[in-house]
Amino acid sequence: MGIAVPATYVELADLALARGVAPGKYVDGLGVTRMCVPLEQEDTVTLAARAARAALESAGCAPSEVGMLVVGTETAVDHSKPVSSYVQGLLGLSTGCRVFETKHACYGGTAALQMALDWVRSGSARGKKALIVCSDIARYGVGTPGEPTQGAGAVAMLVSDQPRLITFEAGKTGVYSKDVMDFWRPLYSKDALVDGHYSVQCYLDALEGAYRAYQAVEADAGGARFYSDRFAALVYHVPYGKMSRKAHRHLRTLDGDPAPDDSFDRLVGSSLVLPSQVGNIYTGSMYLALASLLGTAQEDLTGRCVGLFSYGSGSCAEFFSGVVQPGAQARVKALGLEALLERRRALSIPEYEDVMRARERLDERPAADAPGTGFRYQGTRDHKRIYVS
Ligand code: CAA
Repeated sequence: MGIAVPATYVELADLALARGVAPGKYVDGLGVTRMCVPLEQEDTVTLAARAARAALESAGCAPSEVGMLVVGTETAVDHSKPVSSYVQGLLGLSTGCRVFETKHACYGGTAALQMALDWVRSGSARGKKALIVCSDIARYGVGTPGEPTQGAGAVAMLVSDQPRLITFEAGKTGVYSKDVMDFWRPLYSKDALVDGHYSVQCYLDALEGAYRAYQAVEADAGGARFYSDRFAALVYHVPYGKMSRKAHRHLRTLDGDPAPDDSFDRLVGSSLVLPSQVGNIYTGSMYLALASLLGTAQEDLTGRCVGLFSYGSGSCAEFFSGVVQPGAQARVKALGLEALLERRRALSIPEYEDVMRARERLDERPAADAPGTGFRYQGTRDHKRIYVS
């Protein structure tokens, strides 16, 4: 696994004061402390490339071992050319690699992951690994109710038949999909549009449908009084921390638990440590929550089963599960994610608003030398995006 976030963020308490809102509403009411905001040299491609390189390095995997690269995103940079092709070029992946992009709102990365798992299980991979990258910049209009639920980042995962973090359980998934208009982004708009409270209800309906479908496949509660106690932890899609709390309350109520909040800290708490510092990263949000669980949980999760719920507006959702592998928690801790977040720089609200305005014109900005190291977006020349590494 590899994770990339922008080097700058906004403090939600500062944003609340600037919007004339009580800071408690954003920090406690939504459960977000900070949200990542990318500067102009960062986009979905550079975040994806950084996360992908980190995943390859942490697994000691050579680019030649990757047989499939899929980027799940809902904030792509081109209507035709996939983000994955830019990433292939920046990472130097082989021409024998199958490369494409998937889209279904925040579910796009899970769609790619499930396909990769089946590719590996079927034997078609013939020893090659799949590189799945979830990369997004979550953006709502300045001053809208969605504004405090923005964020940016990417999570990359290497899928192989010798998993070192988590073994996803074959066939144990429950799917729920329904044509709804809860969150969308018209082709002409940089900002997402959302029917906020309706989207919360759609998420909860999808959770119920996917959870029931999972239970139809795996009826055995493992002797637990409440079904979800068969899991050592539950990782929900996290548009903001409070949504995970609402999800957990709903799921435990479905289990028949008369005190549905009592298990929240035990089953969900560790998964929200990193998301509360990053904000919504759409496709990568649930995988950032998984990294948070593995990197910050105090208890030994080795050999234990984790339940995961992925939700994409529009909508498609999936409840699935995996078993934590020996050494997984130490490997994720070694990524140093909490230290990475501490190294970021805070933006003032006027600086953040300038960044938001500048992003409006970023796709047409003439390419100019970009100082610094690492993958950077320089601008466009002859309608072509230029990147440097
Ligand atoms: N102190 C503590 N808490 C406070 C408070 C205060 N001073 N003032 C308000 N609150 C609480 C409220 O009680 C509320 O908590 P509950 O939900 O538990 O009742 C919470 O803060 C939020 O308050 P509101 O509901 O009044 O907030 P809002 O109407 O301004 O907007 C929102 C909330 C609808 C989530 C909005 O931020 C939004 O539209 N966000 C984007 C959409 C979204 O993330 N939807 C999630 C489901 S869809 C999905 O998951 C896909 C995806 O990634 C987008």
